[in-house]
Amino acid sequence: MSNTITKAVIPAAGLGTRMLPIARAIPKEMLPIVDRPALSYLVEEAAASGITDILIITGRGKGAIEDYFDYSPEYDAKLIASGKQALVDELHSVCHLANISFIRQKETRGLGHAVSCARTFVGNDHFVVMYGDDIIFSNVPATRQLIDAYHRYGLGAAAVKAVPEELVCRYCSLKAEPIPGSDRDWHVTDMIEKPRPEQIWTNLSILGRVLLPADIFDILDRTPPGAGGEIQLTDAMRTLAQRDGMTAVDFEGTRFDLGSKLGLMMANVTRAAEHPEIGEEFRAFLREFAGTL
Ligand code: UTP
Repeated sequence: MSNTITKAVIPAAGLGTRMLPIARAIPKEMLPIVDRPALSYLVEEAAASGITDILIITGRGKGAIEDYFDYSPEYDAKLIASGKQALVDELHSVCHLANISFIRQKETRGLGHAVSCARTFVGNDHFVVMYGDDIIFSNVPATRQLIDAYHRYGLGAAAVKAVPEELVCRYCSLKAEPIPGSDRDWHVTDMIEKPRPEQIWTNLSILGRVLLPADIFDILDRTPPGAGGEIQLTDAMRTLAQRDGMTAVDFEGTRFDLGSKLGLMMANVTRAAEHPEIGEEFRAFLREFAGTL
C-alpha cells in the first residue's frame, strides 16, 4: 500500500456540449461559482486533502485554465499601486496551493482516454482522479474521504451517492455490498456505465472522485470504446473491481455537476448565499424572489 497519496489528475479537456453555447468560448471547468472558477475549488480541495502534485488535462481552447493558475503582473502592478498588497498575496496563493502541471489530450476520446494521458505523471503511485466539472462542498474534503478509505481497506476507491432510479441510467450502477461495521463504506465487485434499467444492481453511482492504482493505465490501454463511442473510465474500473474489488464511499458532502446548467446555477446560489461579501444581501434578494415564484 502507498503510504500517502500525493498526486491528483483533473481531466478538463471535455467539450462540454451540455453547456453550449457558453462552452464554445469558456471552458466549462472555468465557469464561475460567484467569483472563482470551478477548478479553483477542485485545486483547493486537493490541497486540503494532502495532495501536493496536480496534473490538469486540458485541450484546445482551454488556455484560460493555465492562465488562472499563473501570476498576472498587470493586475499586481495596479493593485500594489492602490495599496492592495493583501489581494495580490491572495491571488498569488492560488498558484502555490500545489505543483500544478498541464498536458493536452489531443482528441476528446472520453474520460478514460483523458486519464490515460497522465501515465508518466503518475508513475507507479496510487492517485486520485477529480472530474473537472464536479465540485463537492463538504466538511471533510471529498478527496480526503477517499484517501482515508484507501488507508482503511487498501483498495481503489470511488466517491458515490445513491441517486434517484431515473438518473442511474445517466451515470453508472455499482454491484456493491455494505461493509459490516461501517455506515458509509461498500465493497464493490462490479460496475456498469450508463446501464439499461435491467442492468441496474444498485442506485449507487460514482460522482466525481476516484482513487486508483497505477495499473489502471494498463487496463485502460486494453479498454475498447464503450458508451457513446468513448473510452470510459468506468469500463476500466469495472475490470479493476472484478479483479481486486474496490471501495465505494458514500461521501459526506453535496456534489454539483457543473457540466449541467442546473448544477451550475445550484452551486452558485448555494455559494452566494453563504458568501462573506454578498451573502447577506443575496439571501435578502432570494427571500424576496422566492415570494414571486
Ligand atoms: P463529461 O463526460 O462530463 O464531459 O466528463 P464532456 O464530454 O465535456 O460532457 P458533455 O456531455 O459534452 O457535456 C467529465 C470530465 O472529464 C473531462 C471533462 O472535461 C470533464 O471535466 N473529459 C471528458 C476529458 O478531459 N476528456 C474527454 O475526452 C472527456
